[in-house]
Amino acid sequence: MSDPLARTVTRVAYMATQLPRLAWYAGHDYVVRRLAAQARRRNATLRRDGSSAGAGNLDQWRIYSDLADLLAQDLANVEAGIYPLPHDHDGALFTRLRRSRLFFEDLPAIHRRRERKDTREVMTAATAGKRPDYYLQNFHHQSGGWLSEDSADRYDTQVEVLFKGSANAMRRQALPPLHEVFAGRDQRRLRLLDIACGTGRFLDFVKQAWPRLPVVGLDLSEAYCRHARNHLGRWSRVNVVVGNAEAVPAPDASFDAATCLFTFHELPPHARRNALRECARVLKPGGRLVLLDSLQRGDEPDYDGMLEWFPRNYHEPYYGSYLGEDFSAIARRLGLKHRRDVRAFVSKVMVFDKPQ
Ligand SMILES: C[S@@+](CC[C@H](N)C(=O)[O-])C[C@H]1O[C@@H](n2cnc3c(N)ncnc32)[C@H](O)[C@@H]1O
Repeated sequence: MSDPLARTVTRVAYMATQLPRLAWYAGHDYVVRRLAAQARRRNATLRRDGSSAGAGNLDQWRIYSDLADLLAQDLANVEAGIYPLPHDHDGALFTRLRRSRLFFEDLPAIHRRRERKDTREVMTAATAGKRPDYYLQNFHHQSGGWLSEDSADRYDTQVEVLFKGSANAMRRQALPPLHEVFAGRDQRRLRLLDIACGTGRFLDFVKQAWPRLPVVGLDLSEAYCRHARNHLGRWSRVNVVVGNAEAVPAPDASFDAATCLFTFHELPPHARRNALRECARVLKPGGRLVLLDSLQRGDEPDYDGMLEWFPRNYHEPYYGSYLGEDFSAIARRLGLKHRRDVRAFVSKVMVFDKPQ
């Protein structure tokens, strides 16, 4: 973007949309921390794994400075024409307030589950056997696990609060590696698969960048798929299907790109390998796989304490094994070439190619 006026307008528009958004979710985070501190004092159970110690004693200013770096990168991508000025589509004020209420209403139940170490509420006679066992858990201690409509409705607020309003900006960092392989090609003839698409937030940004690109979202949750279809309703060439990442219902070599965001840390090691094998199988030769997930141990040593603490406070049963997982080695065995990792705040983008 060489025109100074256009650059100024873009920067002002970016700040005008992103900063109030960050303030909204960081404000929720602040209230949650205050409530958690009060609850710990009430229960006189101030443990060493409490939230402030849990941040691995990482300075909050360091966190905010790294968050600012993420936003600077997000804006730089817009200015470089990699994707347009983002629209987060959080909904009208009434929708945001309703989701905020849903979010706060669930906190006591989350607290109760955390205290009782109750993580299997969603494993019932009705659900057992219909989904893999590892899936039937109350991840993050949230009500309904991945299975209920309310959970799908609350999910984006929960994630944004956890990341102080930066979840969407992190998701967008998976777009530059797609831009590299899509540039100069007819988007209508390409196909992208987003595995574990959740409520469809990432696919929304994909469509903002490539409106005519046919995309498929796959997720094991019927409720989350319904929410994704609704969220993506204004786009054409979108197909959201219920299915397991370990057995993608698509032929070999049928996609030019596959993506998977914020999910590999929630899969046990065998499922991670099966899902990666499926990514390798459904990619066309020359296709690109982009994973975006938490930083791993050693990526940013100052963050290691926070990463080790995280699964103790949130129910994340497979996070410990994720922290040490060697994705490059798994990908190599599947015939994928690991290109690079790029840090994005507390996440990183992992880029792999399937050779021609
Ligand atoms: C933490 S959320 C991430 C969702 C989304 N990618 C995002 O950016 O927010 C994890 C998602 O993975 C889905 N999931 C977990 N295991 C799965 C599996 N084996 N197959 C398909 N989806 C799965 C869950 O239903 C949930 O929607």
